Amino acid sequence: MKVHEPVLLQEVLEYLKPVPGGQYIDATLNGGGHTLAIAERIQPNGVVLGIEWDSSLFQETELRIKNYELRKSLILINDSYTNLKSIAEKHDFQPDGILFDLGLSSWHYEASGRGFSFKKDEPLDMRYNTESRSKNQEARQTAAEIVNLYSVPELEQILRDYGEEQFARSISESIGLNRKKRPIMTTDDLVAVINVAVPDWYKQQSSPSRRRPNGRATGSPTPRRKIHFATKTFQALRVVVNDELGNVAKGVRMAIDILKPGGRLVVISFQGHEDKLVREIFKEQVKAGRIIQPVKGTIRPTWPEQQANPRSRSAKMKVAEKV
Ligand SMILES: C[S@@+](CC[C@H](N)C(=O)[O-])C[C@H]1O[C@@H](n2cnc3c(N)ncnc32)[C@H](O)[C@@H]1O
Repeated sequence: MKVHEPVLLQEVLEYLKPVPGGQYIDATLNGGGHTLAIAERIQPNGVVLGIEWDSSLFQETELRIKNYELRKSLILINDSYTNLKSIAEKHDFQPDGILFDLGLSSWHYEASGRGFSFKKDEPLDMRYNTESRSKNQEARQTAAEIVNLYSVPELEQILRDYGEEQFARSISESIGLNRKKRPIMTTDDLVAVINVAVPDWYKQQSSPSRRRPNGRATGSPTPRRKIHFATKTFQALRVVVNDELGNVAKGVRMAIDILKPGGRLVVISFQGHEDKLVREIFKEQVKAGRIIQPVKGTIRPTWPEQQANPRSRSAKMKVAEKV
């Protein structure tokens, strides 16, 4: 399995500014790429508290790094960052810096078996945490439950709002029609239903090698699209299944509350609506005099990073400093 490459790593270190002896939180641990790089910078006596919501992924990470020298500088927690405040209190943590690297990991596409990828036939689940009931959190519906139980107008709204899907109406109508014949339970079922709802040109994909540095396809006679025709539907469902925007709003506000004065908050987002939400929260908090923005606007991966790690292409990083 390909290891998840930490995105904007140099930039995270530059702006989070980890110092020896400091306390840092990585709110989205995954395989620990950023966590371990921060841990290296804070020796001796510094601590990184890493939070990961996905229990299977968390266990894999814990096991993989259990014999690392840096392990003694880490506190690893299997929980949602929406509980950031109580987690920090419990561990008597007053962070000098907090990182959010939002969204999902390569592991989810490649190894979770929960239907995050339209390239593999798997049950349509898409929950990061399948044990929410036992974690004292609202139980989350699976993607299959949403697809089969929500009304067609509700589905259309979801695809429009969270996927910016231009064929939201025809895809949701196709879901409505097809689920009457039999429930849509797998990723292949869903892709087939989208396939009949969108025009042929929407299904023509350009290969990444044919793109210019700006991401656009080179002068091809037929317009070709950068992404697969099911990408936006899958994204929209994942966002709703996990209440990703609600989580980001809660987590980022809590992070600002618990940071030490002068402490830094770094947020990397991959989707337009997440980035917009972070921008709005930062704006509101600047207005309230609670943070300043040491760098205005957005930090983007360099072109070499985008070439080496295609996943980084949509990354947008924002930085705040607690007043
Ligand atoms: C983009 S990955 C982070 C990659 C990580 N920075 C690295 O270098 O390997 C995002 C991670 O956040 C986790 N995640 C998503 N929502 C979460 C939440 N509410 N609380 C904690 N972790 C969450 C996902 O399961 C995923 O592992």
